[in-house]
Amino acid sequence: MIEINNLTKVYHTSAQDITALENVTLSVNKGEIFGIIGLSGAGKSTLIRCINMLEKPTQGSIIVDGQDISLFNRHELRIARQKIGMIFQHFNLLSSRTVFDNILFPLEIARVPSSEARRKVNELLELVGLTDKATGYPSQLSGGQKQRVGIARALANDPKVLLSDEATSALDPETTRSILSLLKDINRNLNLTIVLITHDMNVIKQVCDRVAVIAESRIVEINDVLSIFSNPQTPTSQSFLNAIMNKDIPEGILQRRNTDTADTISKLIRVSFIGASAGEPLISSMVQKYEVKANILYGNIDHVKDTPFGNLTMELIGQPVLVNEAMDFLFENGLEIEVLQNV
Ligand SMILES: Nc1ncnc2c1ncn2[C@@H]1O[C@H](COP(=O)(O)OP(=O)(O)OP(=O)(O)O)[C@@H](O)[C@H]1O
Ligand SMILES: [Mg+2]
Repeated sequence: MIEINNLTKVYHTSAQDITALENVTLSVNKGEIFGIIGLSGAGKSTLIRCINMLEKPTQGSIIVDGQDISLFNRHELRIARQKIGMIFQHFNLLSSRTVFDNILFPLEIARVPSSEARRKVNELLELVGLTDKATGYPSQLSGGQKQRVGIARALANDPKVLLSDEATSALDPETTRSILSLLKDINRNLNLTIVLITHDMNVIKQVCDRVAVIAESRIVEINDVLSIFSNPQTPTSQSFLNAIMNKDIPEGILQRRNTDTADTISKLIRVSFIGASAGEPLISSMVQKYEVKANILYGNIDHVKDTPFGNLTMELIGQPVLVNEAMDFLFENGLEIEVLQNV
């Protein structure tokens, strides 16, 4: 649905040239929710604004639904943009217009006949659950309700693509969840392609199919969400993940560790798992099979869609040869093992 090829964007300012994007290539499939995550200043907004040509690329092509919109003139762009909706962190509603008239606005610009436009607005109000707020003004709405108006307005001209620039960043976690679930419903029911930028891995986890990680103007990793969560390949994605999966073991737990004796050792390991192979059944069969004790100290388990993944920190206590065999057993059964030294 969207093909971005070798996109480079340089901002020329009086002080200096700023390269906001460098050689970005990615494609977004029809009907998917594609996340873009990166730190502040990485180039996310620039990238999403190039997709609807609010920013003109310095180099590269942007193909949306088979057409290279970077070659379009102003008139062609105006038409093309009607099929690319956008929602924003600060909603960007018109404060002097009612909720109804905010949603009507893009239909007026597209010169949709009045009765048809009004019917469409009512339909959209129902879709986003705001029928009873139609005559209210933006200042009378909560943040979540304002974003629902923003979403309805973005959908007014039946876009093929919806772009979301930090649309939930100004909202509390509960409201964020409800907005994300609305986006997911819209994606499913209307088969709408969504490109969503965020700096929050939880947002990616809740709704995205695939994700691109952007760091210092470049894409450093693109993968499906489960792969990024279970096996991040770059320091940037690892640090985003660590922000929501705490891997640091609390001090008090370490102090309760067993120490080695004459014929047993105690090895501190972290096992990472993904999918149904996960966790307890394997550890209990390991304990039965190899006369070792497994003392689970700490763990994180999470889900992406319905697949569990996570890590457990434990000490294995027993004769050295058995401890090693037990670790081999876990490894052979698909768990990833890291021996934690210097702790
Ligand atoms: N209009 C502009 N003129 C000059 N420089 C700009 C302009 N817009 C963005 N930049 C610069 O381009 C770089 C990328 O900015 P961008 O807004 O795309 O980052 P971002 O990833 O969206 O950050 P944030 O998470 O803070 O929104 C930054 O260094 C920024 O200062
Ligand atoms: Mg931004």
